[in-house]
Amino acid sequence: MSKHRTPLRYPGGKQRLAPFFLELLVENSLVGGHYVEPYAGGAGVAMELLLSNKIEHIHLNDSALPIYLFWKSVLYRSDELCRRIYSSSLTVDEWKKRKTIVQDPLGHDELDVGFSVLYLNRCNRSGVISGGLIGGLEQKGTWKMDARFPRNELIRRIEVIASRKEAITLQNWDAERFMLEYIPMLPENTLVYCDPPYFEKYGRLYMNHYKKDDHFRLAKVIQDKLARKWVVSYDGVPDILEAYSDRRTFLYDLQYNASKVYKGKEVFIFSDNMKIPTHSSLSYIDEALDLGLSS
Ligand SMILES: C[S@@+](CC[C@H](N)C(=O)[O-])C[C@H]1O[C@@H](n2cnc3c(N)ncnc32)[C@H](O)[C@@H]1O
Repeated sequence: MSKHRTPLRYPGGKQRLAPFFLELLVENSLVGGHYVEPYAGGAGVAMELLLSNKIEHIHLNDSALPIYLFWKSVLYRSDELCRRIYSSSLTVDEWKKRKTIVQDPLGHDELDVGFSVLYLNRCNRSGVISGGLIGGLEQKGTWKMDARFPRNELIRRIEVIASRKEAITLQNWDAERFMLEYIPMLPENTLVYCDPPYFEKYGRLYMNHYKKDDHFRLAKVIQDKLARKWVVSYDGVPDILEAYSDRRTFLYDLQYNASKVYKGKEVFIFSDNMKIPTHSSLSYIDEALDLGLSS
């Protein structure tokens, strides 16, 4: 597996789970099929599966307009985007400008918004778009704002993704509408991976977030209406385990970097029509603790 495919650093980014998704594809005869992320964010798993040719087409949806415009810029204005990455100045004044653009995406050129998303994602602590600058406004820390902005590598990743644009479809819908209206049009050999905003305390990491009732409503839509094979990942809290208690699940520990306090158990939930590999590559992930499947 290539180390990084996506140019975005995403809090809780799931690319390292790609080997597990590959096992699911193999087990369910979905290799060469379609793969969907209704909550795409950094789309780490999707990019890994597409660029390693395990999947023929990926469908990415994100309701946050700036995130959507970032991906749109990657696919359709990649040369201009790469030129910006190459020549942008990494200064606090530039950072402030990028911040105001992302806060008012409708008032700016799409490429400007897309580039600003990448800029903030790469210059902010833990990649949190609405978060603070690495090194602070004084730029006095050990790490400065350019610490996570490897221009050539970002350009390389974008060029690789853009070269596959015919195999990538983007939408900017609410996920539930996307599940109800878009996914049913996809072929049968489609896998859907839902990675919604977390149930507890992580909401502020993203630009949109759900309240409790939204999660429960979503649980019903996914379980009652999602008409393809699907996998959902969540924080493994009792409310979520309860909302999906009729499905097969397993808990694992995925430690990530948004801040040490966010370390915790996550859960995978599977649609009843999925076969689940018995010896999973998740056991190779350092933090995976509990692979016991519950039914
Ligand atoms: C947990 S992140 C996904 C991270 C992604 N799996 C990755 O590896 O980078 C959730 C994403 O869902 C998006 N989102 C939040 N609410 C949404 C909604 N109602 N419909 C569609 N997307 C939504 C957020 O903008 C965010 O990018």
